[in-house]
Amino acid sequence: MLTDSMGTTEAASRRRIVIVGASSAMAERCARLWLLQSPDCELILLGRHAERLQRVAGDLRVRAPQASISCRVLDFSDPEAIASAAADCSQPRAPDLVLIAHGLLPDQAQAQDDLALARLTLYVNGISPVLFAEAFVARMQAVEGARLAIIGSVAGDRGRQSNYVYGAAKGLLERYAEGLQHRLALQGRPLRVVLIKPGPTATPMTAGLQGGPGALAPVETVAEGIVKGMAQGRPVVYVPGKWRLIMAIIRCLPRAVMHRLKI
Ligand SMILES: NC(=O)c1ccc[n+]([C@@H]2O[C@H](COP(=O)([O-])OP(=O)(O)OC[C@H]3O[C@@H](n4cnc5c(N)ncnc54)[C@H](OP(=O)(O)O)[C@@H]3O)[C@@H](O)[C@H]2O)c1
Repeated sequence: MLTDSMGTTEAASRRRIVIVGASSAMAERCARLWLLQSPDCELILLGRHAERLQRVAGDLRVRAPQASISCRVLDFSDPEAIASAAADCSQPRAPDLVLIAHGLLPDQAQAQDDLALARLTLYVNGISPVLFAEAFVARMQAVEGARLAIIGSVAGDRGRQSNYVYGAAKGLLERYAEGLQHRLALQGRPLRVVLIKPGPTATPMTAGLQGGPGALAPVETVAEGIVKGMAQGRPVVYVPGKWRLIMAIIRCLPRAVMHRLKI
């Protein structure tokens, strides 16, 4: 059950936004931007930890007292729980925006040694976002102006020794989003699916990573790029935009060159 309520008449005219993995730093910043755009919107936050969701919801309620903000905790490893959450979030009507944001960046060496960690990494970053997307697309595909975004990563663009288990799962999202976009286009559906590819960004996920000044993009900048890219309905959004060129170059490198680079 959603943990907040609102009048149904009012609900019909409000922008309806669902964030999966709403405790993510990127997702939280996107939520703040959407509340600035639509202070009376209906925001549904999905996550796996009640306390973390409530902390985010509490902060957002102070920023936008007119918004209706509710939380739902679920088990991200359970396909039935995912289907049921998508169904509940689509009552009385389907969402206008869905952002699927959760992810897990393991230490690459640990993921090589620990198969359970490798499996979790592949699931959380690859399979689980696909299950959420399928569950929501079924309900949103006929909604004019609707947007569904999945946060992938530049790490999915080419396998690299430094993060290839994580990168493999993010690469899965690329093929998935591409196929889904193809299906919706052929069927003439108005829903736009947007694959977001952030470069390294200053969030709790990267807190332990080394890097010089400027190595990590500010999370606010990345959130602005996500919100703008979703509004435009672009199929693939690199944030910051410079990563489109950087990754195009990395993808083009011959294997013989790539295998000499410690990236
Ligand atoms: N930060 C970067 O440099 C970067 C770069 C490229 C792409 N990304 C992607 O951007 C997205 C947002 O990440 P972020 O940087 O905002 O990181 P973050 O603040 O660390 O958030 C990670 C999110 O993933 C959730 N999560 C972690 N493990 C999970 C699990 N086993 N099951 C379900 N949910 C789990 C967390 O939930 P809890 O709060 O419950 O732990 C949290 O909501 C992710 O998809 C990430 O892969 C990040």
